[in-house]
Amino acid sequence: RTAPTQPQPNQVCCHHFGQCCLVFCGVLHRCQGYIKARMKSEEKRRTRFHSGHVPFSGIKTYVDPDTYEDPTQAVEEFAKEIDPSYICIERVIGAGEFGEVCSGRLRLPGRMDIPVAIKTLKGGYSEQQRRDFLREASIMGQFNCTNIIRLEGVVTNSRPVMIVVEYMENGALDSFLRTRDGQFTVLQLVGMLRGIAVGMTYLSDMGYVHRDLAARNILVDKSLVCKVSDFGMSRVLEEDTEAAYTATGGKIPIRWTAPEAIAYGKFSTASDVWSYGIVMWEVMSYGERPYWEMSNQDVILSIEEGYRLPAPMGCPVTLHQLMLHCWQKDAGQRPCFTDVLSFLDKLIISPGSLLTLATDTQR
Ligand SMILES: *[C@@H]1O[C@H](CO)[C@@H](O)[C@H](O)[C@H]1NC(C)=O
Repeated sequence: RTAPTQPQPNQVCCHHFGQCCLVFCGVLHRCQGYIKARMKSEEKRRTRFHSGHVPFSGIKTYVDPDTYEDPTQAVEEFAKEIDPSYICIERVIGAGEFGEVCSGRLRLPGRMDIPVAIKTLKGGYSEQQRRDFLREASIMGQFNCTNIIRLEGVVTNSRPVMIVVEYMENGALDSFLRTRDGQFTVLQLVGMLRGIAVGMTYLSDMGYVHRDLAARNILVDKSLVCKVSDFGMSRVLEEDTEAAYTATGGKIPIRWTAPEAIAYGKFSTASDVWSYGIVMWEVMSYGERPYWEMSNQDVILSIEEGYRLPAPMGCPVTLHQLMLHCWQKDAGQRPCFTDVLSFLDKLIISPGSLLTLATDTQR
C-alpha cells in the first residue's frame, strides 16, 4: 500500500488567492492557523498524543489511521463503542465486500431512536480484513459536518463487528438522479452541488484527500441533502468497480481522476477538485456516465489532447464554465473548494445567473 499523500490544501488555497491575499485576509489568517495546526499535529503524531484537536485555533487536522502502530487504538480514539443491545437491525439493504449492509434503528439511552445503516463484518475474517473494515470508521469518526456521512459508532467488543452510520433514505446520488431524470429545478441541482462542495471544503480544510469523489460515492437523505461517503482510500478503490489498474499499478477510477493523479499518482485536493467537476457534470446530466461509452484509454488520450466534456443538456453556461475551471490541466490553476463554494453561493443568491443555458449540447 502506498502511503496516502499528505495534502496541504490551504497552502494551495493561499497560492490561488495570491494576488487577492490582502482582500481575503480572513482566508490568509485561516491558512496560517492551518499551517500552525499542521505543525502542531505533526508534533503530536511524533509524541504519540493523538487527540486530533488543536485547542488554540479550533481547526482539526485529519489523522491517518495508518500512522498508528496499533490500528485498534485509532478506532478507539475516533469511534464511539456502541452497546449492540441499542441496535435494532431491520432489513438487509446491500452486500459489501466485508459482509451485509443493513438498515435499522439506533436507540441510545436518553436519546430518540434514529434510522441507521449498519455495515457488518462477516465471520471468518482475518485480522487484516478486520483492520481494513474498521479503518473507514476511524476516518469517518474524525469528521463532523452536515455534508459528510456521520458515524454513529462501532461495535468491536462483540460479534458481529459493526459500523453504524446515519441512514440515507435516497441512497447513492448517481442512481437517485437516474431514476428522477428531469424532475428537479436547476436551483435544486445546484443546491445538491453546494452541499457536496461544503463537505469537500471541510475535508480539504482538514487535510484529507478523498481520491474517489464520484456521484456513486455521494449519499442523499430524505431532504435531498447530499453527503460525501466512502472513506478508506485503497480499500474503497479495491471495491469500486469503476477503478481500473493503470500502468503504474495503482487502481484508479479513470473517468473521475485528474491526469496528474492517473499519470504519476499525484493525488491532492486539486485532483479532488477535478473529480468534483466530473460530479457536477454527473449531477447536471442526471447521472449520465462521464465520457459515455468511450474506453478508459480513449478518455486519457482525449483529455491529454485538450478535450473536455461538453455542457449537459439544460446546463447553465456558468456551471459548465466552473466545470472547465476544475478541469484545467495545471492543478495549480484549478480553483480550491472554498472558491467553488463561494461561486455556487453567488449563483444561488442571484438565480438569474442560471438562466443562460449552454447551447452546446452536442453529444
Ligand atoms: C460538530 O459541529 C457542530 C457545529 O457545526 C458543533 O456544534 C458540535 O459541537 C460539533 N460536535 C462535535 C462532537 O465536535
